[in-house]
Amino acid sequence: MEKSPRIGCTKDELDTPALCIDLGAMESNIRAMAAACKSHGVDWRPHAKCHKSPVIGRMLIEAGAIGLTCAKLGEAEVMAAGGIGDLLIANYIVGRKKIARLVELRRVADPIVCIDHAVQAEPIGAAMQQAGLQLRVLIEVDIGLHRAGVLPGAPALELAQKIVATGGLLLAGVMGYEGHLLTLSDPREKARQIHAALEQVVETKHLLEASDIACPIVSCGGTGSYEITLTHEGVNELQAGGAIFMDVFYRRKCNVQSLQYALTVLTTVVSTPAPLRAIIDAGRKTLNTEIAVPEVVGRADVSVESLSAEHGTLRLSPGAKPLRIGDRLELIPGYGDLTIVLHDEMYGLRGGRLERVIEVEGRGKIR
Ligand SMILES: Cc1ncc(COP(=O)(O)O)c(C=O)c1O
Repeated sequence: MEKSPRIGCTKDELDTPALCIDLGAMESNIRAMAAACKSHGVDWRPHAKCHKSPVIGRMLIEAGAIGLTCAKLGEAEVMAAGGIGDLLIANYIVGRKKIARLVELRRVADPIVCIDHAVQAEPIGAAMQQAGLQLRVLIEVDIGLHRAGVLPGAPALELAQKIVATGGLLLAGVMGYEGHLLTLSDPREKARQIHAALEQVVETKHLLEASDIACPIVSCGGTGSYEITLTHEGVNELQAGGAIFMDVFYRRKCNVQSLQYALTVLTTVVSTPAPLRAIIDAGRKTLNTEIAVPEVVGRADVSVESLSAEHGTLRLSPGAKPLRIGDRLELIPGYGDLTIVLHDEMYGLRGGRLERVIEVEGRGKIR
């Protein structure tokens, strides 16, 4: 197997394609997010689905995060093995094998799992009870994303009553994700619709409490909306995670201007078959264009035209400074989340030198 590059080598010495982190920029983003949460009295539980690394997870905790959010049980297992105990799995655990793993995870960590139907809750509660354990759960409320989630109000209350009556489970609160509203272009309308969506989660909490059901956690928010979500009265946990890297999607489509780009893909020009076309060694197995098209750092005159599996096609605008075979370019990922999972390692650079190699330990942990 190919060896990792030598610590201390320069960026120019990295072979390409290489997924690079500007550590200074990432640390600045982490500090900014932690400070924003603190100033609004909201606990930060950043989503780890973007970095999938307990090394970065621990940096987040050291910066003030109360725990992490994970998308999969396997991701949470990786984080727990890396010493992080407070883990919200913002997803559903269904099936005997997974429930057995969840029991084992509960022995070493304090996970929280989402529920939107009593059918998920019953076997988990029974398994926890049999093991002499108790598991925290959150009710996911559908606030318009129309992905998963019980409807707010009475259906959520009915589910809460069933959870409270299920041994082995502790109802820890409610969550809702406003993911359908991130790209609204009019800032006022975006804020209005996000507040209206989030209010459904907060109202659900009040409804539960009016029935004497404790509901301490109200968890919402992604990077594309965090500035608004943090200001919503009643939301007390924020899940935004990709913010630590930023990307084209967050900047251009969600209009998040407050954070720095920290993640790039370093590539080499391998062919220049036509005057205004250049081919780089980064295609779909290195980058993706699905959510947003990557941008070339410092070259507004060069754009990503298309990606095939292992070739990236760049288009030069007329009059652009030519690209030559062997030139190296850095691209800002369109969506960091779907880019990082394509890589085994991330190269953490400071002052143009490799400071640390960060393994994407949760890569492939889709179960
Ligand atoms: C449940 C949930 N919370 C939060 C987020 C936002 O994550 P991020 O801040 O990394 O964009 C997502 C993104 O898909 C999500 O599914």
